[in-house]
Amino acid sequence: MPTGKIIIAIDGYSSCGKSTIAKELATKLGYNYIDSGAMYRAITLYFLRNNVDLTNTASVSDAIASINLTFEFNSLTHSSDIHLNEENVASYIRDMLVSDKVSEVAAIREVRTFAVAQQKEMGRKKGIVMDGRDIGTAVFPGAELKIFMTADPEVRVMRRFKEMYATNHNITIEEVRHNLELRDYIDSTREESPLHRAKDAVLLDNSSMTKSEQLELVIRWVKEKSASLR
Ligand code: DC
Repeated sequence: MPTGKIIIAIDGYSSCGKSTIAKELATKLGYNYIDSGAMYRAITLYFLRNNVDLTNTASVSDAIASINLTFEFNSLTHSSDIHLNEENVASYIRDMLVSDKVSEVAAIREVRTFAVAQQKEMGRKKGIVMDGRDIGTAVFPGAELKIFMTADPEVRVMRRFKEMYATNHNITIEEVRHNLELRDYIDSTREESPLHRAKDAVLLDNSSMTKSEQLELVIRWVKEKSASLR
């Protein structure tokens, strides 16, 4: 494996399998993995719990000032869980209540300024894989490797449905489809750092690829990129 540490930015639509590939890649390379979406989800959870009025900038700024986000290693799952003011909220942030509100919260300028500053700090020492919507465009525009992931919308709906059905048997395919369509729309049309493919990002359409095929391809890109930097 390459020795010089780089930054790997993975962006793309909801439920494209970004976190799966990002996590495996980080493990393989001995890099840190940061799920930037988990940060927006934890902020949304805080806002919901505290009835923060999203249209009131002062209330939003006050709420943000009371939020402390950290990622802590979970030895049971061997991954890092997001903590909101020292509470492990990893199991709450995937709730439909949070999923329904998160794109609206993530579109707020003050929220993005807060999250992006922390994300940039996490990448200071490189050796990081971060996934999200604006990682290659706004957070790390100078990332050595940028990947833009996409997949057929129905493939994504079924992937997310299966994931959610495992913990919530009341969920319907229609609800999941509606949530994904709405989030993609808000994420890619918002004013603040909308989701778009960076000019220098390589495209990964994984509609009909297995996890191991994806990992193999991405590792090849890492090797090629690292070799070109030597
Ligand atoms: O990756 P995810 O589905 O858990 O992300 C949740 C939401 O957070 C997503 O709808 C858009 C937002 N998000 C963002 O705006 N910027 C990021 N870098 C990551 C996520």
